Amino acid sequence: MPLATIGTDIQKAANLLREGELVAIPTETVYGLAGNALDTQAVTKIFEAKNRPSFNPLIVHCANLEVVDRYVEHIPLMARKAAAHFWPGPLTILLPKKPIIHDLVTAGSELVAIRIPSHPLTNSLLEEIDSPVAAPSANPFGYISPTNAHHVADQLGDKIKYILDGGNTLVGIESTIIGFDEQGRGVVYRHGGISKEALEEVLGPVCSVKLKGKKPDAPGMLKSHYAPQTSFVLGDLDELLPKFPHTKIGVISFGRLISTIPANQQVMLSPKGSMAEAARNLFAAMRKLDSLKLQTIIAEPLPEEGLGRAINDRLRRAAADKN
Ligand code: TXA
Ligand code: MG
Repeated sequence: MPLATIGTDIQKAANLLREGELVAIPTETVYGLAGNALDTQAVTKIFEAKNRPSFNPLIVHCANLEVVDRYVEHIPLMARKAAAHFWPGPLTILLPKKPIIHDLVTAGSELVAIRIPSHPLTNSLLEEIDSPVAAPSANPFGYISPTNAHHVADQLGDKIKYILDGGNTLVGIESTIIGFDEQGRGVVYRHGGISKEALEEVLGPVCSVKLKGKKPDAPGMLKSHYAPQTSFVLGDLDELLPKFPHTKIGVISFGRLISTIPANQQVMLSPKGSMAEAARNLFAAMRKLDSLKLQTIIAEPLPEEGLGRAINDRLRRAAADKN
């Protein structure tokens, strides 16, 4: 199959989606691999193109809050509050699905993950096609999520026809996924672009689903994920550095340069110490160092607060044992 075209033609993307084809789309978080969420053949193609196990459900992206009602039984009060405050934006909300959403999309769950993204091209596309799109991150299963069109082309270019090019993504890490328990309390399934602190300002205290062992508590929350091919180690840089030959390692730091390591083998996520900037740079840093074919990439965790929680989650999963 010929390589995907990269462009900004919303009509072309809309036509392909209407025909049941896949299109890569920009969002504010990462690029998604989109197919019509109501077309089971298109949904099947998504799983195949990503080599994604069928037990890992997909997020359904909608144009606006009015259309969400077509796909969910109801929106509980606290979920509505979250939606009103954070949509369009990097928050995904688990809601009881209507039968129109096929079990294939939710991997058999009665809950569907819904998100209204915030990106001008993709929001126009969603308004144009009048159906929601299922879109996981546009990377092969388990690899680093793409934050620009070229990342998508490098890895899925032979599997899709068109990549809608919306530039570098602004948030850089995936959406936060939240569900609500029977008391209306928020449960964070995945830390992401909306910090726990920001959620709590609107919703009151929320709790997090804990990552225990290799088996996920929530479908798809696998311990090893976002992983480069190069061996990846997370820890205190001063403790790790003596353990590796300095010519063969890559370093990801929050904001410091190591004088004994070649400069092109290092990425500072945010020299000025901004978590938002670090999140924006994280996946491109992992990709860049992975492409150098070094022996090992070492990285330091960020402070475990704000977006640091989501960044550390990605770093931990990148470093997790793949077996
Ligand atoms: O920012 C994002 O969320 C990006 C962009 C493209 O929107 N999408 C994304 O999709 O990160 P994906 O497929 O890479 O991650 C979706 C996660 C999966 O880990 C999956 O387990 C969880 O969402 N998920 C989806 N539906 C779910 C459901 N019904 N219940 C629990 N978890 C669900
Ligand atoms: Mg993903």
